[in-house]
Formats: sequence, C-alpha cells, structure tokens
Amino acid sequence: MADTTTSPKRDVAVLVGSLRRQSFNRKLALALAELVPPSLALEIVEIGDLPLFNQDVEDDASPAPWIAFRKRIQRADAVLFFTPEYNRSMSAALKNAIDVGSRPRGENAWRGKPGAVVSVSAGALGAFGAHHHVRQCLVALNVPTMAAPEMYVGKASDLLDETGRVTNDSTRELLTKFGRAFADWIESNLPRKAP
Ligand code: FNR
Repeated sequence: MADTTTSPKRDVAVLVGSLRRQSFNRKLALALAELVPPSLALEIVEIGDLPLFNQDVEDDASPAPWIAFRKRIQRADAVLFFTPEYNRSMSAALKNAIDVGSRPRGENAWRGKPGAVVSVSAGALGAFGAHHHVRQCLVALNVPTMAAPEMYVGKASDLLDETGRVTNDSTRELLTKFGRAFADWIESNLPRKAP
C-alpha cells in the first residue's frame, strides 16, 4: 500500500455529469473532497459551458473553452467521474466533456491518468448503467480505472441534508474508504517518468 501521508499532493480533476444546481452528484463530490486523505486535492472542473464536440469546428479552430478544458485535464494527476444516470446511460454533458478531452486525435488529455467512477442517483439502482458506460469510455481513453470499491450511490435524497451534508454514517464511511483506496490507486498508477 502506498504511504499517502507522505506523498506529494495530487491534483484530482473531478467531473460532475449533472448540471443542475441541487445535483446529488455535485453534493457527493463536495462531500468526498472533505473526506479524502490529505494527499489528494479534489477540484470540480466545470463542463456545462463546453460547446458540443463537432469535428468540423475542431478542424477550423478549437473554441477557447475546449482548449482551456483540455489544458486543465492535462495538468491533473488523476481524474474522478461523478455520473448521474439519464435513460440508463451517462448525461450528454458528461459524454461531451469526455469527447472534448479526447481530441484532437493523438492528443487525448485523459491518457494514462489514474481514474475512478462514482455514480449517484435518486433511484434505487445507484446509476449502475451510467457507471459502466463511463467505465467503457475510460477503456478507450486508456485511463487505468480503479475497480474497487465500487461506488453506486442510490436513494441519494435519503443520505443528505438540505445543506448537502452526508447524514448517513455508513455512506461517510464508504466515501472515506473510497478516498483512501483512490489515493493508493493514484500512487500505484501514475504514469512512470523516463529516468
Ligand atoms: C433521469 N433519471 C434517471 N434515474 C435513474 O436512476 N435511471 C435513469 O435511467 C434515469 N433517467 C433519467 C433521464 C433524464 C433525462 C433525467 C433528467 C433524469 C433521474 C436522475 O438520475 C436523477 O434526477 C438524479 O438525481 C440525477 O442526478 P443529480 O442531478 O441529482 O446529480
């Protein structure tokens, strides 16, 4: 197990697939940011203003929001995806962000960055379908993705108070365990620098 108490601070770019203000995914992401080991710094990277990916636009000139987004992902040590489930898959906003980050061809910003997925839903199934669609994309993007603990958070409205605080002890424990495992995963899977 990596010694995360003495590790350098790792910059984790957090993508939240829901754009709504009261998003349970966003609340859980903010809660996790408070529970992770001190070796991790989580920052939500906003995706709501990214224009839809269009190869013609890319061929002409990438819009500034795409360029800024790609630079932010390139700078990150690791990536963490919070996904809602829309019709048994991820939201269009999250898929668009994934696609924007993967281009131009040959400059995939996600490549090699240790990653993890959390899915959050108001429903009982914890957005299982969306979760695995995100994982499927991460294979194509060459993101080494943590297998366990799996984080499917269902019935999210029962776990949070009106301020967004996680009120359920077992959920806090699970988030803490997940944060520790992800810190270890990052240390074990950072791309090796040439000697
Ligand atoms: C949903 N929702 C939903 N929930 C689910 O568990 N499975 C699903 O397939 C869907 N499908 C779906 C489609 C669309 C278009 C919307 C807008 C919503 C409900 C959704 O998961 C729920 O609203 C979550 O609370 C969304 O996550 P945030 O916004 O709270 O982070």
